[in-house]
Amino acid sequence: MDTSNSDFYSYSPSEGHGLPHDPFNAIVGPRPIGWISTRSAGGINNLAPYSFFNAFNYTPPILGFSSQGRKDTLRNIEETGEFVWNLATLPLAEAMNQSCAMVAPEVDEFELGQLTAVASQRVKPPRVAESPVSMECKCSQIVQLQGADGTRVERWLVLGEVVAVHIARRLLKNGIYDTAAGQPILRGGGPADYFRIGAEQLFLMRRPD
Ligand SMILES: Cc1cc2nc3c(=O)[nH]c(=O)nc-3n(C[C@H](O)[C@H](O)[C@H](O)COP(=O)(O)O)c2cc1C
Repeated sequence: MDTSNSDFYSYSPSEGHGLPHDPFNAIVGPRPIGWISTRSAGGINNLAPYSFFNAFNYTPPILGFSSQGRKDTLRNIEETGEFVWNLATLPLAEAMNQSCAMVAPEVDEFELGQLTAVASQRVKPPRVAESPVSMECKCSQIVQLQGADGTRVERWLVLGEVVAVHIARRLLKNGIYDTAAGQPILRGGGPADYFRIGAEQLFLMRRPD
């Protein structure tokens, strides 16, 4: 139902947005990309991007992403309790995109994207050698999502504690991590929108005393 006045377009999502594209993703964005590597119980590596992804806690550090349906990544984490997050960067954009292809579980997406799987230190799934930052995670919770009325949906929030971090030394300037130098790519809305970050987007603002 469009309850618009002249200045605002308003709708209730349960009744449909009534627009050519759902604006939800475009508004809550751009989002960092969870480029998640896992390994099946049978030892097959898997790699896939998840943009319903973010950091949720400092101590212990916790990352999370949501699986829209039951996918190989979710199944592997249920089986093994482990995953690795890799930073998706501008030079790796094509490879990241390749890794979202719908392929059979026995296909290793590292090979698909011509990426190198490097052994992790604390978990079995490998990290992406070409990515300048990776975080090894142990799954802490898997939560099936539900609506406000308690109706469960086929969506799962996967949370993991970061147990090891790898940062390319070139991204540490006098020991400070340089976000822009990492050239992260972020996901906007629609079928194809991505954003990049450069030093020109940086501005400083301290919290009030
Ligand atoms: C940039 C990007 C972001 C994505 N975000 C999500 C997401 O948040 N949740 C999801 O379920 N699928 C997402 N997908 C689709 C999955 O990557 C795709 O379904 C993939 O095949 C899943 O791989 P898997 O079965 O190996 O886990 C995204 C794809 C792209 C390219």
